[in-house]
Amino acid sequence: MRVLVLGSGGREHALTWAFVHSPERPHVFVLPGNPGMWEIADPVEIPISEHREIARFCVAERIRLVVVGPEEPLSRGIGDVLREHGVLVFGPSREAAQLEASKAFAKRFMEEHGIPTARYRVFSVEEQDKAWQYVETHPLPVVLKASGLAAGKGVTVAQSREEAFAALQALFQGAFGEAGQTVVIEEFLTGEEVSILAICDGSDYVVLAPARDYKRALEGERGKNTGGMGAYAPVPWVTPSLLQRIQTRILHPTLRALADRRMPFVGCLYVGLMVVNGEPFVLEFNVRFGDPEAQVVIPVAEADWLALLGSAAMGKLARGALRTVSQGYACCVVLASDGYPGAYRTGFRITGIEQAVQQGVLVFHAGTRWENGALWTAGGRVLNVVAVAPTLEEARQRCYAAAESIQFEGKMYRRDIAAGLQI
Ligand code: AMP
Ligand code: GLY
Repeated sequence: MRVLVLGSGGREHALTWAFVHSPERPHVFVLPGNPGMWEIADPVEIPISEHREIARFCVAERIRLVVVGPEEPLSRGIGDVLREHGVLVFGPSREAAQLEASKAFAKRFMEEHGIPTARYRVFSVEEQDKAWQYVETHPLPVVLKASGLAAGKGVTVAQSREEAFAALQALFQGAFGEAGQTVVIEEFLTGEEVSILAICDGSDYVVLAPARDYKRALEGERGKNTGGMGAYAPVPWVTPSLLQRIQTRILHPTLRALADRRMPFVGCLYVGLMVVNGEPFVLEFNVRFGDPEAQVVIPVAEADWLALLGSAAMGKLARGALRTVSQGYACCVVLASDGYPGAYRTGFRITGIEQAVQQGVLVFHAGTRWENGALWTAGGRVLNVVAVAPTLEEARQRCYAAAESIQFEGKMYRRDIAAGLQI
């Protein structure tokens, strides 16, 4: 069995690791991958934007399954191109990927199908005046979002009118390019956040361990929004009855409506939720695994990931391939470059990964480069240290002990991932 993983971050490294450990021992290819992935899988040197060329490669090389990590190629239709060539894909069509690629689409979809979400209005660049008026009288805080893809950075929770106007101006003046030319303005919800990831085959689905990610750059949820600074799973306060409510109020109606609209969802549906007084509200949909949520929900489960994702791609979900959603707890700490998500420097030598691995943790690569026989920093998020243990506290402590062993100049990480939970 030959499998191809598309992408190059910690999420894709976790997926590649999971496939390599599947009982079938598949031959795993990665495009483009990263130095950590190349240790366990074979690189493919085709640009990720060349969908047809990738499809031809898959046909020629008899790739049985393609798993798409990031949202960008999905929103540009790689799923459709691969399927046209008869290649099995774990990842939705371009149409279904709109749930993530257009927040305006997602909000209208939820409104139409009675899926709970914050109250909102959508304004295009031509309706700027109306947007300003709307913000002028909206209760504070108010939330402003670029409708299109903005790598998790297009959202402002404005505490003051000035901040809201500044965000609106930045969006309409093109701070996020085309993505910000349509703006979603919505009410601020107060509650607890959780990420729910479901493996979907177009009609049926299974839910993975509820996960919490830490989006802000600094401890205590301060600083800028990032792509994610850490995560843990499962989230203990998500009780079976809350999970049931999330399924009946959100997952069932979403997947049913997508199927009814002839855009069935095949892939990982990620629902970012705010739980307000026990009731779940959708903050966002993503149409792929979360990063860094994948780095905890995959290692904490006991599953044959190849069988699970392969069967979903075929439209015949093998639920039994997910034997246990969580055997204990997983904690992930992201080691980043000082300055991220703003300006940061790269090109620093990384040492100590082996010592960390010897302590029994997983180290997934995110922004690394292999050159002259050594590993160097090459991105904002550099490495992910992941520990699985019977208790969350133990997972957390093992994660941080191993994180200490890894060295590079400008290493920066949050020290409060999964802290203070006493579980
Ligand atoms: P999103 O990319 O839409 O998930 O937004 C990024 C982050 O902004 C979320 O993880 C929340 O912390 C925050 N956020 C987004 N929408 C809201 C909202 N309506 N109320 C409160 N916080 C929000
Ligand atoms: N962790 C948030 C995301 O993957 O979008």
